[in-house]
Amino acid sequence: MARAVYPGSFDPVTNGHLDIIDRASKVFDHLIVAVLENPRKNAFFSMKERVSMLESIVDHYNNVEVVCYKGLLIEYAQSRNASIIIKGLRAISDFEFEFQMALVNRKLNCNVETMFMMTNNMYSYISSSIVKEVASYGGDIRDLVPPQVYQIIREKLSPR
Ligand code: PNS
Repeated sequence: MARAVYPGSFDPVTNGHLDIIDRASKVFDHLIVAVLENPRKNAFFSMKERVSMLESIVDHYNNVEVVCYKGLLIEYAQSRNASIIIKGLRAISDFEFEFQMALVNRKLNCNVETMFMMTNNMYSYISSSIVKEVASYGGDIRDLVPPQVYQIIREKLSPR
């Protein structure tokens, strides 16, 4: 049974992430979407909010689960018997850092393979940072994130 972990900050989850989740769910028997803290970024949404947004959008997949984890990704993957880490690649600019991460993770555990999925070209320009920036200036982000996430961002940015 092929089990894969799809890690990220998901701050917030975008249509680009959702596309990777959808495609990976068809390739692997079980997909674990792991929400991790990224020490290089200050999260806008709490861990609870990020997990809850993801849970609401993967609800209809019977082979996808959402978890949160603090610590090394490779250790989490091993603890869940997942032999594959899935990463989405949008552009050359993603490559250098992802390549380094993949090599570090392989150094830490050579039994876990990192596999990359090329982003759907419809979503190649979307990132969580761009979504937050556009939303913070009142721009329309409806085509960038799932509808449930759109509502949550609107509420968070314009509290009553
Ligand atoms: O969505 P992001 O912010 O690009 O995701 C990055 C993330 C969270 C996957 C990465 O920072 C990560 O794997 N963090 C966990 C700690 C870890 O294992 N780091 C890699 C070895 S140094």
